[in-house]
Amino acid sequence: MNINTQEQFELILDSSIESQEFIRLTLGKYRGGEDGLTKIIVRIVQFKSSIKLSFTYGYKTKEIVKNYPIEEGVDLIKTLIGSDFMSIRLFSIKQDVQLEYGKSQNPKINFIKPTFTNPVDTNPQEHDHRKKRYIESQNNVYLRALGITNSQGNVVKTMEDKFRQINKFVEIIHGLLESSGLAGKSHISVVDMGSGKGYLTFAIYDFLNNILDKEASVIGIESRIHLVDFCNSVAQSVNFERLHFNQGNISNYSAEKSDITIALHACDTATDDAIYKGIQSDSSLIILAPCCHKQVRKQIHPNMVLKDLLKSGILLERQSEIVTDGLRALLLELSGYKTKVFEFISAEHTSKNIMIVGIKSNHSINKEQIIGQIKDIKKLYGINFHYLETLLFPDFFLSPDLADLINAELVSDRPIIPI
Ligand SMILES: C[S@@+](CC[C@H](N)C(=O)[O-])C[C@H]1O[C@@H](n2cnc3c(N)ncnc32)[C@H](O)[C@@H]1O
Repeated sequence: MNINTQEQFELILDSSIESQEFIRLTLGKYRGGEDGLTKIIVRIVQFKSSIKLSFTYGYKTKEIVKNYPIEEGVDLIKTLIGSDFMSIRLFSIKQDVQLEYGKSQNPKINFIKPTFTNPVDTNPQEHDHRKKRYIESQNNVYLRALGITNSQGNVVKTMEDKFRQINKFVEIIHGLLESSGLAGKSHISVVDMGSGKGYLTFAIYDFLNNILDKEASVIGIESRIHLVDFCNSVAQSVNFERLHFNQGNISNYSAEKSDITIALHACDTATDDAIYKGIQSDSSLIILAPCCHKQVRKQIHPNMVLKDLLKSGILLERQSEIVTDGLRALLLELSGYKTKVFEFISAEHTSKNIMIVGIKSNHSINKEQIIGQIKDIKKLYGINFHYLETLLFPDFFLSPDLADLINAELVSDRPIIPI
């Protein structure tokens, strides 16, 4: 018997449900007549007495969930394929299958390595004792490739802090999507500045695309070419098609538009370069975990009273971190962002645990007042300039002779990083 491509896809769908290999199915490229509907995500869900197919109807501004008995749900999927929805992806633990309707009569079918290799847990109550994580370690191919897990899918002892950080970071991003207005967007672009070995870059890509079902593209910017090559090869091997790593210096990166700019533990003024690029690319969210704070540390010349207070090196060190990050938050506010500053992970795991978040907002600000606050703080600590203000507002804060001084100082300080 000859069967056409759609029938072939439907048989694979039936068999994935029967063999309990079905994970989920997404229906995209909507061509039907319902206003605002863009996609449907179908999952398998355990209810008290039965298992059902749960359809999440994604509209431009809302989501509606409807549950169907398995057979009814599968029939419904078959009526929608190729009539209302032109792009269908089946995720099963054996393989992903993509069915694509174009201009020609016959749809194209593609078989891809499975994104998910764990069977669906249809009875979550049974496992309530197990801590739920955003990014799971078991069967996670990229965590294995990045050295976070071993071949049994267990987190390597020395990587436990990193794994905790990854999950905490994803949890924070999840919360911030709502407050920044990005939660309702189906396409999201992210730039991770100073992406290093890509631990968090991979996790955010995985979370946005495979857990939240968004179409997210993520770029990692990193100066060290061997890390860039390594991360690109891992991204390819796990079929993360919209995840790319580019070699370059953050200060030279030119982004047209990115929704989220991230810089986690980018060194010293690289954090300021990332903030500047995030503002330039009109990011709704700027997320930073600053690392070392040398630029302001060298500038601090406190007045007599503060001098006594900060005579111990460690206190001066801590104070310069607070002044650097406090001024960053004020400069973000001056640029139209609401800011939050908090500890994102316990200090017992890392001392570099302060996170600064900027959320773009239309709220009115008193510019004069913020400029006055920044000037007062600089005066109190005897600081000539904060590197970020030289990027964002040179005219507000700098006199021409000071600008020359700054140029000389920054040129001599800045590490030479190949582009
Ligand atoms: C401490 S690592 C952090 C990596 C990653 N963000 C994380 O949190 O796991 C900082 C990374 O930023 C890169 N980096 C520092 N300054 C940079 C710059 N100006 N341009 C591009 N990459 C930079 C370094 O090479 C390094 O890999």
